[in-house]
Amino acid sequence: MPVPIQPGDPEQVRDLFDRIAPAYDNLNDLLSLGLHRLWKRQAMAWLDPRPGQRLLDLCCGTGDLALVLAEKVRPGGLVLGIDAAAAPLERARERARRQPWLPVEFRQGDAAATELAAGWADAAVMAYGLRNLPDPAAGLQELRRLLRSGGRAAVLDFNRPADHQGATAAFQRFYLRRLVVPLARRAGLEAQYAYLERSLGRFPTGSEQEALAAAAGFTQARHRLLAGGQMGLLQLVA
Ligand SMILES: C[S@@+](CC[C@H](N)C(=O)[O-])C[C@H]1O[C@@H](n2cnc3c(N)ncnc32)[C@H](O)[C@@H]1O
Repeated sequence: MPVPIQPGDPEQVRDLFDRIAPAYDNLNDLLSLGLHRLWKRQAMAWLDPRPGQRLLDLCCGTGDLALVLAEKVRPGGLVLGIDAAAAPLERARERARRQPWLPVEFRQGDAAATELAAGWADAAVMAYGLRNLPDPAAGLQELRRLLRSGGRAAVLDFNRPADHQGATAAFQRFYLRRLVVPLARRAGLEAQYAYLERSLGRFPTGSEQEALAAAAGFTQARHRLLAGGQMGLLQLVA
């Protein structure tokens, strides 16, 4: 039995994403049947990116969103992708090198403590990142600080079903235990993907995320369910 990875432990989480980086994109496509691209498009649509804007992709991983957004902010704009782990960033930079016209940069750092100036970004996205932070409330506070007034943010992640959503929770358990973990086991990544359910166990529900976002100073916060309640998109206005 592999040793469980502790959600909320930054070193263990960083090592996890360094370890899975080579398989991450393929497993994402396989485990979501490619649907993660659709959900990411929905998150990016909320930002309504325009040429000349400065955008952030926090917890950018291998750069899926940053690379698409960079196309939208041309000319004159910039997308900055930030991630804690070196290996996914290396893949993101490799992808960017193949499209040298894209205004995109990648930087290693903590999404909850970026050291960027307040109001740096016109808009920001965080996909499958908030759940991995030691303190999601602190992540939302940093996100609010980074946005100019009126700027939008989209936070996409698995939805943690509320108590009354029993069928959604049952399907999610089935999906994570019977499909995700066995497929990841074949790639030698059982512990890494078993972490997904463990991390969801401490993740705020949609209404809790709305409350945390309001407390962080967002003027609008709406959590939308996607994929029959399996995913959640937190749409924010600073
Ligand atoms: C599930 S991946 C998502 C990657 C990408 N956004 C996507 O949707 O494909 C989560 C990413 O969050 C990063 N991460 C975890 N904790 C972080 C932190 N405190 N600051 C920045 N990135 C972090 C991990 O290294 C990992 O690349």
